Order: sequence, then structure tokens, then C-alpha cells
Amino acid sequence: MQIVVGRDIEDTKKFGTSGTINIGRHIVGTGEDAHFTTPVLMDILRPHLTILCGKRGSGKSYSMSVFVEEMLKLPDEYKKSLCSVMIDTQGIFWTMKQPNEKQAVELGNWGLKPRGFNIKIYVPEGQKKVFEQAGVDFDGAFSVSPAELTSEDWLGVFELNHNESLGILLQKNISEISAINDYNIDDIISRIKKEKGFEAEKLALINRFELAKTWGIFGESRMPNLLEPGGSCIIDVSLTSQNVRALLISIIAKKIFRERTIARRREELAETEGIRIKKIPMCWIMIDEAHNFISSDENSASQDILLRIVKEGRQPGIGLLLATQRPEKLHPDSLSQSDLLISHMLTSKADIDSLRAIMQTYMLFDITKYLTDLPKMKGVAIVLDDNSERIYSVYIRPRQSWHAGASPVAKI
Ligand SMILES: Nc1ncnc2c1ncn2[C@@H]1O[C@H](COP(=O)(O)OP(=O)(O)OP(=O)(O)O)[C@@H](O)[C@H]1O
Ligand SMILES: [Mg+2]
Repeated sequence: MQIVVGRDIEDTKKFGTSGTINIGRHIVGTGEDAHFTTPVLMDILRPHLTILCGKRGSGKSYSMSVFVEEMLKLPDEYKKSLCSVMIDTQGIFWTMKQPNEKQAVELGNWGLKPRGFNIKIYVPEGQKKVFEQAGVDFDGAFSVSPAELTSEDWLGVFELNHNESLGILLQKNISEISAINDYNIDDIISRIKKEKGFEAEKLALINRFELAKTWGIFGESRMPNLLEPGGSCIIDVSLTSQNVRALLISIIAKKIFRERTIARRREELAETEGIRIKKIPMCWIMIDEAHNFISSDENSASQDILLRIVKEGRQPGIGLLLATQRPEKLHPDSLSQSDLLISHMLTSKADIDSLRAIMQTYMLFDITKYLTDLPKMKGVAIVLDDNSERIYSVYIRPRQSWHAGASPVAKI
């Protein structure tokens, strides 16, 4: 017997346990008497909205890597129609290329061996040198064109208001320069300089654009193809400030949404006409520290597109995995729309209460009790599955690749 989460009765009848990833084992019993039994599998045939939460150091980033490892280990027939794009806010996922020798014994107990995975790591073009100096083994650089940003994006990233004079000047200039196909920041600056009057505002705005050049995200390389069949990309935004990260997530998520929407339309047409076409894989977007990008109290640059994916992502085949220490700080729609919730240990009452938003009235389980009954060890979690209307305690399997997010230990 195996447990499949994220799959409803109909799909279970149709697909059995195929098209799943093996995330760990079911925990039976509580506290010290707990033992690990049946394998827990997770559906990857459908695009899910998954929330992965837990307090600091409880295992979120670790579990996220396990999901990526499992997707990369899928048989070709499933792997080819999937890909993942992970936004790495802490610069910790590049080590997935290296084997996890440290936990070789633990892995052995699971019948697994340490190994590295073929992931692709991209860093901002203007930060390449810093990553090289830090010894990060990245595969390529990415950059965006200033022409990809709307005046709304600029207002947001510069934290300016529509109605203040700087905001008005910015909107006017971006709207005028938008007539040109591609332009760089110097073109924007020259445009602003030509403006008559408003000397103080012009200077303030030019200073902001000069600063934008130092973010390292504008350049010539552009975005790589993120939707490679069976691919797994890591976008390292760890050296990028919070509002610029949100902007990058917005650009990346919009690109994926656009490409998958077009692809879905072509797929549907091809299905009705019975013709074969080159497939663009369904995509899982995985975001660590997601409460900063789809938040209950702030409106960051990524908010609108992520909310759109939360509400409409199923149709174009986009799965979303949002990892956070603070589920309470996630936008309420992301909680209420999620169909799979994986929660490592949480202690704040407000956070535990927020999880109830995904529980339908028929799920009358006591989440607090489930959480406190978990054995006191890393990597354990409860899984709330709205597809099968069940709740499980799970021990997530050890990683095969090296985990760089381990807490340092102070010792003499
Ligand atoms: N399934 C697991 N098996 C064994 N050890 C684990 C497991 N999950 C987590 N750990 C251990 O717990 C540590 C903390 O995990 P992780 O870095 O994923 O925490 P986190 O929830 O992402 O924390 P933060 O919120 O600070 O980013 C890891 O370094 C690892 O040693
Ligand atoms: Mg983490």
C-alpha cells in the first residue's frame, strides 16, 4: 500500500501510482513511539498550488530540493512534459549539483545513494564576477531589458507614487520612450534630460536610473529558455535587493504564463486535429520566502502575476510551490486556493490558524494536535490534501544532493 497525495479519486482510478514523486514515509504513532511506514507519493500529473511552510530551520528548503530531485528522477515519459523554475533567495540551491556524502548512511537506510543532479543555475549578468569569486558553479547569466518594464514596474521598484511629481515625470518619460522597440537605461536618462524645467525632479529621477544600472539585472544576455522538457532551473537572486527580486519574479512569472498559455492553446488545437506538435512542458514555479512576493499586507511587483497564477494557473499548466516561514503573511487567496499544504513544525498560533483557510468544513481535524504529535526531529511534516480530503503525518526523505542551508554551529 502506498499513499498518494494531491490526487482525487477519479485520477487515482485512472492513473494508480504512476506519475508521482516519492517524497517520504507515512508516520504512524506519536512522539517517541512514532515509526515510519508506507511510502508517501505526490501527484505531478496535475498543476498544484502547494504551500510549504514551517518555522525557521524546520526543513522547507530541504524538502523543496527533495521535490526537485524527485522530478529529475522521473521516468522519461513524465519527466519530458515537466520542468521546474526555482527562485533561490538565499543562494543555497546551487549545491544540488554535488552529492550529499554527509548523509550517506541515512540515505542507505532508504535504499538511496548520494548523488548530484543536472540542474541549471542562472545568475544576474552584472553579478557574474561576484558569483565566480565565491566559487559558485553556475551555468549561465540572465538579464532583462529595461523595455520589458512598464511604468508601473518602475514606480514599484523605485517606491514612487503615481501622483507625486517624480512619479508623474517617470510615467510620462517611460510612456514616450515605449514607442522605441528596445532601449537601455542610458536612453531613458537622455530622454529625461531633454525634459524642459523640473530640474530637481529630473536629477532625482536620473539618480534612481543610475542606481538601477548597478543592480546587475540589465544587460545583453536576456532570459534563457526556462521551459526545457525535463529541465530544472535555479534563478539565484540572493545578491539582489528585495524589491528588485520581486520585479524579477514578476518578469519571469509573466514570461512563463504567456508561453504556457500560448502552448496550451496549441496543444488543445493539436489534440482536436490529431496532430503531433513539439511540446512545451508544464512548469512548476517554486518560490522560497514567498510571503515577500505574494503578501497579505504589501503590494510588491510580483503580487499581480502570482495572484493570477494562483487563480488561473491550472489551465495553462503552471504549478506553484510557495515556501514560507509565515503562512499568515501569505496573501489569503493563495491559502484558500491551495490544494496541497505541507507544514513542517509551526508554533505561532496566528500561523496555525491561517492553515485552516485551506481546510474545508468537512475536514474537522485538529491541526495543532497533528503538529504537536509529530516526532521531535527535522524533516517531519503534516500534509493537508484537499484532493483526497485527508491529512497525513510524513517524514520527508533525506536529500541525495548536498544541502547548503544547514545552520552553522558555534564551537571553540
Ligand atoms: N527530511 C530531512 N531529513 C534530514 N534532515 C533534515 C530534513 N529536513 C531538514 N533537515 C535538516 O534541517 C536543517 C534545516 O532545514 P532547512 O534549511 O530546510 O530549513 P528551513 O525551514 O528552510 O529554514 P529557514 O526558514 O531558516 O530557511 C537542514 O540543514 C537539515 O540538516
Ligand atoms: Mg529555507
